[in-house]
Amino acid sequence: MEKTIEKIVSLCKRRGFIFQSSEIYGGFSAVYDYGPLGVELKNNLSQLWWKEMTQNHENIVGLDSGILMHPKIWEASGHVGAFNDPLVDCKHCKSRFRADEIVENISSPQWVEIKCPSCGTTGKLTEPRQFNLMFQTNVGPVEETGTEAFLRPETAQGIYVNYQLVQGAMRLKVPFGIAQIGKAFRNEIIARNFIFRTREFEQMEMQYFVKPGTDDNSMIEWKNKRMKFYEDQLGINKSNLQFHEHGENELAHYAKEAWDIEYKFPFGWSEIEGVHNRTDFDLAKHSEYSGKNLTYFDQPNNDRFIPYIIETSAGLNRMLLTVLTDSYWEDNENNRIVMRFHPRLAPTKAVVCPLLKKDGLPEKARTILELLKPHFKVVFDQQGSIGKRYYRQDEAGTPYGITVDHQSLEDDTVTLRDRDTQKQNRISIDRLIQELIKNIR
Ligand code: GAP
Repeated sequence: MEKTIEKIVSLCKRRGFIFQSSEIYGGFSAVYDYGPLGVELKNNLSQLWWKEMTQNHENIVGLDSGILMHPKIWEASGHVGAFNDPLVDCKHCKSRFRADEIVENISSPQWVEIKCPSCGTTGKLTEPRQFNLMFQTNVGPVEETGTEAFLRPETAQGIYVNYQLVQGAMRLKVPFGIAQIGKAFRNEIIARNFIFRTREFEQMEMQYFVKPGTDDNSMIEWKNKRMKFYEDQLGINKSNLQFHEHGENELAHYAKEAWDIEYKFPFGWSEIEGVHNRTDFDLAKHSEYSGKNLTYFDQPNNDRFIPYIIETSAGLNRMLLTVLTDSYWEDNENNRIVMRFHPRLAPTKAVVCPLLKKDGLPEKARTILELLKPHFKVVFDQQGSIGKRYYRQDEAGTPYGITVDHQSLEDDTVTLRDRDTQKQNRISIDRLIQELIKNIR
């Protein structure tokens, strides 16, 4: 079986996970809409991350800052000056590329000697030019100088500029963390590989404020914790995950050390999350640009310092693509496609099916649906043969099938089908909730 991105895209559309934005107008490049199953899966992932950060760690709290912020923030953070991609154009076929995707070291090549990757013409590529990735807009009714604002390219800055307010309100002591989930926007030049690189996406970022000197240890701790999250909480196959350390020429302008968590997608190993040591770069810059003292007072040691920041920055959409890719399974023996999501991630936990549309079976099935609804996301299906109904749910990744038959009317039992093994066990209705909770947790 070959797992291709095209097969995943097709399943996502067919089963209502993900759609191209504005499809009836011919599509809008690099933006995607999440359908009924996609939004459930995405919510399950973000809730799991939120719980991991803010519930499992006593010293991490949440924040929800605005997408639009004071434009000076982006000058201070370096995004106005340094958040650029180098671009080259082909004068022959008019294609545009990121220079670093054509050659590894963009400062050395003679561009006139390089072939255009699209049309193959040599001598027609321009020298690289810098292109800022931030989307600009204007605030207020008139477009004039001084009204420009940016859509945030990372959620992190909203945390930095609120850090003292949060710390003071919650009486937090270093080390502590602030977590945030929200939209980010980047005018990506080359958006490709489905939802992997888009212009509008969601980030789940946690900024951990530590005492300078303890940052290296904290970095090790967070690298390990984040890798474990993918393995244990999301159930991703370990052999498809690896770390990649940023070399000198890969490091972002703010980072002293950076590690990517990479997943082995059909298009190759690619970053899904970054763990960065941002030192005191951001807080020092905001202090300088705002004129505010952003130091932290360490009372027990009578010490004052700007905390160092260890950042864990995950893309929610890339996490979703990771889960979709890792779960996709062609069960050739049984001629079916199965999304083997961990039950805790599955958009729908169970389908309730009356075996037939008569003899009181639909009514009995509906009573079970009502019983389960307050606890789980469940659906009712009585259309088509029972085999077809199961296979539809296998593609949707529903881990359990509950079937009501004539015996159910006599002894209050149902069959419980497991999506992956297709095994069916008879179980009493009053044990269903307990059994599902045990497996879904
Ligand atoms: N605050 C640090 C930061 O933004 P980044 O490596 O540029 O670091 C972090 O981005 C994560 O955000 C990436 O690992 C990825 O998961 C996600 N991400 C970045 N750009 C993206 C894009 N254009 N489309 C989808 N996800 C993106």
